[in-house]
Amino acid sequence: MDSNSFYSKLSDSQAAFTFDSVLLRPGKAIIEPKDADISTNFSKGIRLSIPFISSPMDTVTESRMAIAMARRGGIGVIHRNCSAEEELDMVKAVKRAESFIIRDVITIGKDKTVKDAFQIMQKHYISGLPVVENGKLVGIITNRDVRDEDPSARIADVMTKDVVTASDAISEADAVALMRKEKIEKLPVVGKDGSFEGLITYKDVKVKGKYKNALRDNDGRLLVSAAVSPFDLDRAKALANVADQLLIDVAHFHNANVMSATKRIIDEIGKPVIVGNLGTREGVLDAMSQLDEGVAGLRMGLGSGSICITSDVTRAGSPTLYAVSQAAGALEELGVKGVPVIADGGMKNGGDAALAFAFGADAVMFGYVFAACDESPTPILDIEGKQFKKHRGMGSKAARERGAIVDRYADSGGKKIAEGIEMLVPYKGRVDDVIDELVGEVKAAIGYAGKTSVAEMKQAQVLRSPPREKKQV
Ligand code: IMP
Repeated sequence: MDSNSFYSKLSDSQAAFTFDSVLLRPGKAIIEPKDADISTNFSKGIRLSIPFISSPMDTVTESRMAIAMARRGGIGVIHRNCSAEEELDMVKAVKRAESFIIRDVITIGKDKTVKDAFQIMQKHYISGLPVVENGKLVGIITNRDVRDEDPSARIADVMTKDVVTASDAISEADAVALMRKEKIEKLPVVGKDGSFEGLITYKDVKVKGKYKNALRDNDGRLLVSAAVSPFDLDRAKALANVADQLLIDVAHFHNANVMSATKRIIDEIGKPVIVGNLGTREGVLDAMSQLDEGVAGLRMGLGSGSICITSDVTRAGSPTLYAVSQAAGALEELGVKGVPVIADGGMKNGGDAALAFAFGADAVMFGYVFAACDESPTPILDIEGKQFKKHRGMGSKAARERGAIVDRYADSGGKKIAEGIEMLVPYKGRVDDVIDELVGEVKAAIGYAGKTSVAEMKQAQVLRSPPREKKQV
């Protein structure tokens, strides 16, 4: 823009509509909404059964949320506001959750105490531990054993020594039959020499049958994504072969240092990554030209999150609908297909998601909506008879105090400004129920728009509408 255009800056400026200022224009429905196809892509290599992603925030996605998301066919992105080891542990817990034979098993030594076993089980959400000495299985200890025993008792004195085991050639059906016959929940897998090789759990095998649309890898393990900083190559390398998809997590990806650091990560790990957040056509074009095949997906939206105050304190932003339309437009310009656009920030229900699809998104990321569920990492708070959960921006003072996330926000040289707040969200119960509601809303919206799928929603028409009073959140 040259200096003469100061006169026209405002008149030339683009309108950045947000969820409250547009509506889907109704169209003729040729199928019933329940039959709408809501499968879509999360990244170049990962197809989702439902178009929902849980945000990498420390009040939203740790292993429990990621497991619940993947079981339903969505995906969770594990947050990075913790040490690399803690993040890796969370990712591993998801991979361990439902495989037939779990290979990466958490075990305990026979000289540890009941209290140690209890703590390990609590930390990893598991109900039993194989007891292993020098690589050999010597016993098993379960929840039931630790509940009734003296916390200072030695594992060797309270464990079950006579363990029913299987070889790793056992089939799923035979394993279930054996566990039923022996009335056991856990079946350790051992080699001919008694070496401990893995674990089969009854719960995992049963749960696996329950979730037909779950996202799984070739070994039957649930899929999970992990957030990383562009400036933490070591963490990216450690996570790259465990998590199914890495996501570069910064507030403003369109930054020369961020993009060249991301290039280095892509080159080192040899896999594409999801990049973001971005807000403009130029940002997407630059990212695509510099990173090319290295871009697995685009996370779009800047300053619209429920807990975000970036647009208040800096007056900069790219509302989510505007941001996704910029990305979809840029990809169209480039003729690039197969790089999904993820809408991120400010969505409260399936209708908001449907609008995002109409503006070019392939999938949507929720923070606020999932922070309210049982599976988010925070406790339920009782306040004057009502139940809440905490949600907070990763740029809030409290989140930054935890330390690991500080480089999500660029260094502005002065005092670190807060770009997020803490808030309470009304508690909503199980994420399964919340997902059912979102699915219902998205399918109904697709029906009203006269489309048949999430993919087809890109052709949906929209109407400008005066901002509406929110009737309910
Ligand atoms: P929500 O679904 O409206 O809660 O928005 C979640 C999104 O807000 C996240 O996925 C991030 O992109 C963004 N976000 C998270 N923390 C902050 C922050 O502190 N400031 C600005 N944006 C944030």
